[in-house]
Amino acid sequence: MKEYYLKLVDPKRDKVLSNKISKMLKKSTEEFKASKGGHIPDWIVKKIIHKYYTSKESIKKTFKDTGYRFALMKKNKPIATILISKSINTIFAINSKNLNAKQKDYPNAYPKGYHCAINLVTDIKIRKKGLAKILLKKIYEEYSPLLKGKGIWMRADPPYHDAYVKLGFKHRTKYDVFLPKDVELPKTFSSTKEFNKKYICNCKRNKKQKEFSKTRRYKYSIFTLEFPKR
Ligand SMILES: CC(C)(COP(=O)(O)OP(=O)(O)OC[C@H]1O[C@@H](n2cnc3c(N)ncnc32)[C@H](O)[C@@H]1OP(=O)(O)O)[C@@H](O)C(=O)NCCC(=O)NCCS
Repeated sequence: MKEYYLKLVDPKRDKVLSNKISKMLKKSTEEFKASKGGHIPDWIVKKIIHKYYTSKESIKKTFKDTGYRFALMKKNKPIATILISKSINTIFAINSKNLNAKQKDYPNAYPKGYHCAINLVTDIKIRKKGLAKILLKKIYEEYSPLLKGKGIWMRADPPYHDAYVKLGFKHRTKYDVFLPKDVELPKTFSSTKEFNKKYICNCKRNKKQKEFSKTRRYKYSIFTLEFPKR
């Protein structure tokens, strides 16, 4: 653990580091592509995820003022990262057209009182070695005065459900997001039912969510993680 240190990245000054973080995020989300066995059509990864959420521009401009960008470092290399909103009123992305939205404009759609988080990623080559855990622990230990909310909330792509649970996140199924009916599926799936069967967890759901899970493609889970008591 001593070999790692936490950095609060200043995207304006730390240009090289910001570029390395973008590269790490892009590499990670490459595995979302259906052509690589992932759960999202390739064009969406390329045209939306890589453009709005993992690009250098997203780090250096879009979320520069609204979020704290943390990087767990080994020597001068980022090995895990997360972006946490400065305010509990910020939602980084409702969708790619509506970035840095206000929580108060979506009163019941997201958990209240938590900082929004996105881009939680560990270097693809060194997963399951406890790095995401160390990153989150160090953030509480070193930066809790910056974070006034109860904890963080984030969307999780379906394949990482179990990892988030093990990291201590709670799955808040009532906020889960389903895509509209008849949305494009990765070509590797023949039906929404087949897709959902692979990706929907067994966590308890209310009636409305159960109904959605039969007819609409699961988009992502919403999780919260409480900060340790101060
Ligand atoms: C989710 C993620 C951050 C976890 O990072 P990590 O450094 O591998 O996590 P850790 O090693 O700290 O693991 C914590 C716990 O979760 C478990 N875990 C990690 N990945 C897991 C997985 N895919 N499935 C099940 N459990 C998993 C670990 O075994 C560990 O469990 P333990 O406490 O019982 O030992 C990592 O898988 C990742 O970066 N995924 C890509 C996410 C992504 O691209 N999101 C889009 C962002 S734009």
